[in-house]
Amino acid sequence: MAGSIVLKTEIPGPKSRDLMRLVEEHTPRGIGHVTPIAIAHAEGALLTDVDGNTFIDWAGGIGAMNVGHRAGDVTTAIKEQADAYLHLCFMVTLYEPYVRLAQKLNEIAPGDFRKKTILFNSGSEAIDNAIKIARAYTGRHAIVSYERGFHGRTVGALALTGQFKPYKVGVGPLLADVYHIPFPYTYRCGDCVEMPCDRHSPEYLREVFRSRIAAEDVAAVIAEPVLGEGGFVVPPPGYFAEVKRICEENGILFIADEVQSGFGRTGRLFAVEHFGVEPDMVITAKSMSGGTSLSAVTGRAEVMDGPALGALGGTYGGNPLACAAALAAIDIVQKDGLLARAEEIGARTMRRFRAMQEKHAIIGDVRGLGAMVAMELVTDRKTKEPATEATAAVLRRCYENGLIILKSGAGSNVIRTLMPLVITDKQLEEGFAVLERALGEASA
Ligand SMILES: Cc1ncc(COP(=O)(O)O)c(C=O)c1O
Repeated sequence: MAGSIVLKTEIPGPKSRDLMRLVEEHTPRGIGHVTPIAIAHAEGALLTDVDGNTFIDWAGGIGAMNVGHRAGDVTTAIKEQADAYLHLCFMVTLYEPYVRLAQKLNEIAPGDFRKKTILFNSGSEAIDNAIKIARAYTGRHAIVSYERGFHGRTVGALALTGQFKPYKVGVGPLLADVYHIPFPYTYRCGDCVEMPCDRHSPEYLREVFRSRIAAEDVAAVIAEPVLGEGGFVVPPPGYFAEVKRICEENGILFIADEVQSGFGRTGRLFAVEHFGVEPDMVITAKSMSGGTSLSAVTGRAEVMDGPALGALGGTYGGNPLACAAALAAIDIVQKDGLLARAEEIGARTMRRFRAMQEKHAIIGDVRGLGAMVAMELVTDRKTKEPATEATAAVLRRCYENGLIILKSGAGSNVIRTLMPLVITDKQLEEGFAVLERALGEASA
């Protein structure tokens, strides 16, 4: 496999186009596709397609591949596990990889208290179960989450998601008793220039308890420490510590959704560690398990024991292959210096994006935490009108030239980086060059 971009055909190539025709014929239009490229092989931070073209991957399967594609120890662990047993169901017999992973997550999740962990298959499924656990433990029904937040697409998780289009169109009614509050998005709030305005201050929660829902009815506040799908928005440093304090005062649980921000992406195992907050529950998935389907809810032991016997579970939750992969992947994040590497990648990306911002007026804002870096594209720096079409054009020019990269944000105008943390400096620089050329073309 090449160490960098190699393009042998037009993009998408003929075999990718053939597969795309089958995709359109046999799968529903509701699943969007960032690119029409069909992959035959992946390694580290590179993807090779069915036509023999090699791309640099800054999407990482939407933030699921922090340890890189086919990380050696992960594939070995999966193969060894496959030789022993594939599926048993943790509700039928015990098996060690499930328990070892629960033990590991209880050790590494933030919080100096006794914890327990339950495993599921997807981020959304873990979110749905966190709602059940919070309600069962507190005996309360309401949940507070954030505008622009994303927690998944199952009916429960979707209710918490704070963006209507496209996720909620035509599929409601969703879970009742969910209250969305504004996420402190200082770039877009003209009133937040000196300090957070009233709506973006943690104190706004108290206003919500006065005017919309009694604090005594709220089971949990759930938040992404850094917005993922919402556009990589980083809150002011003290924000979540204060939210947590208000939760504590009112007997409300604080849940951190680390599905996208966890496992090294921001330079810490969990993004919430940057803010010195110990959540009552942490939701993990994606990069926890090196490319296999797995999620977890880890929380205070007494909270996790809230639901009655039989109220939690699922046939495949904590599948042995995924648990074995996760144990190997977490080891890699902790022992192979990926946390420090995330800081380096983040600092370099931030520097390069800021330099691009000086040259390209279309870049309104550059922001991020660790290797979770983004640029927000606007048609006008004063009005901050989202440059939605130009962003789509930049993404297309990028993949046509060998870089696969994602957008995010309510206006689909934020370009974000979720590259595997094993990416080399050379591959990073190649990616910057492709992106900058695409930005130049979009601005022209
Ligand atoms: C922060 C966050 N929470 C939850 C989810 C849902 O995870 P899944 O797609 O595995 O259901 C996502 C997915 O992107 C996410 O980014």
